[in-house]
Amino acid sequence: MSPPLTGQFPVYRPRRLRQSPALRRLVAETRLSVEQLVLPMFVRPGRKVRRAVHAMPGVLQLSPDELLREASQAQELGVPAVLLFGIPDRKDEKASGAYARKGIVQQAVRSLKKELPDLIVITDVCLCEYMSHGHCGIVRRDKSGVHILNDPTLKLLARVAVGHADAGADVVAPSDMMDGRVRAIRAALDENGFTETPIISYAAKFASALYGPFREAAESAPQFGDRRSYQMDAANANEALREVGLDIEEGADIVLVKPALPCLDIIHRVKTEFGYPTAAYAVSAEYSMIKAAAARRWIDERSVMLESLLAMRRAGADILITYAANDVARWLKESKG
Ligand code: PBG
Ligand code: ZN
Repeated sequence: MSPPLTGQFPVYRPRRLRQSPALRRLVAETRLSVEQLVLPMFVRPGRKVRRAVHAMPGVLQLSPDELLREASQAQELGVPAVLLFGIPDRKDEKASGAYARKGIVQQAVRSLKKELPDLIVITDVCLCEYMSHGHCGIVRRDKSGVHILNDPTLKLLARVAVGHADAGADVVAPSDMMDGRVRAIRAALDENGFTETPIISYAAKFASALYGPFREAAESAPQFGDRRSYQMDAANANEALREVGLDIEEGADIVLVKPALPCLDIIHRVKTEFGYPTAAYAVSAEYSMIKAAAARRWIDERSVMLESLLAMRRAGADILITYAANDVARWLKESKG
C-alpha cells in the first residue's frame, strides 16, 4: 500500500489533510467522547464527609450523601458511569465489611440507584480495603512465609458480588486477580437470580507501582509483602492474553487492562485478539503525575490528559476509566463550542 510517486514530488501529500481544524477533525480516525468515560469514586461512612486525597488533587473520599451530590454532577456532565470503592469503618482478617448487608458500598449503591436510576453504577469487587492486612485475598502466615489463599478467597468474592448486585449494582468489577474468580462470581450471580448482571473483569492487571496514590485514597496498602503473587509481572504480554482469554471463558462481559498508558501494547493485542468490549484504567499515578507536572506548569494539564486518553482509544480501548472524567467531560463540551 505504498503511495504512488510521480516525478519529483509524491502525489500523496499528507499535509493536504492537515490544513485546517475542520479538515483535521473530518479525517480523525479516533475520537474521545463523554459516553466512553467512567469516574472512579471513594465512599466512606458518615455524613457531610469530604476528605481530600493528598496524592490525588481533586479526588475526594465522600460519605454517601456527598457521593450522591458528586455523582449527580458527573451525570449532568454526561459521564454515564461511576466505579465505586468502599472504605469501611473497621477492617478484619475476613473482610466482613465487604459483604455486610449494610456495608458502605451496599449503602451507597442503594442510594445512588434510588436517586439516579439512569447512572450506571459499577462496583469494585475486592477484599483489600476490608482486610486488616490490606491483601486482596485471605492470608495464611506460617514458617515458610505469607500465603494468599486462592480458592477460599473465591467464596468471599462471590458473596461480595452477589451483595452488590442485590443492592442494585448495574455491573460488578472484580479486581483481585485470584484464579477462577470470574467463574465463581458468574455462578453465584446466576444462582441468586442475577443472570443479567454483567462482569467487567480486571483481566490483565499488572503489579504496578502506579497504584501508590490509590492505596492512600482507598486506605488499602498491604501491611506486609506485596501483590506480586497475584497481580501480573510487567514483563509479560503473552501471559496477559492468556489471562484475558481465561476470564472470557469464565464469563467476563467486558475485559479491563491496567495500568493504561504503560500497557497500550496489551490493550491493542487484547482488542485485536478477542474483539471484546475493552476498558482501559488510567490508574491513580497516571492521574497524579499529570496533575503534579501541571501544577508546576511543566506541562499543560488538559492537552496531556486528552492526548493520553486518545492514545488509549487508538490502542483499542472502548471504555476509559479515569479520575479526570468530569474535567474531560467539560473540556470535550468546550471544544465542541
Ligand atoms: C485493589 C485495586 C487497586 C486499584 C484498583 N483496585 C490497587 C491495588 O491493586 O493495589 C488501583 C487503581 C488505581 O491505582 O487507580 N484491588
Ligand atoms: Zn484488592
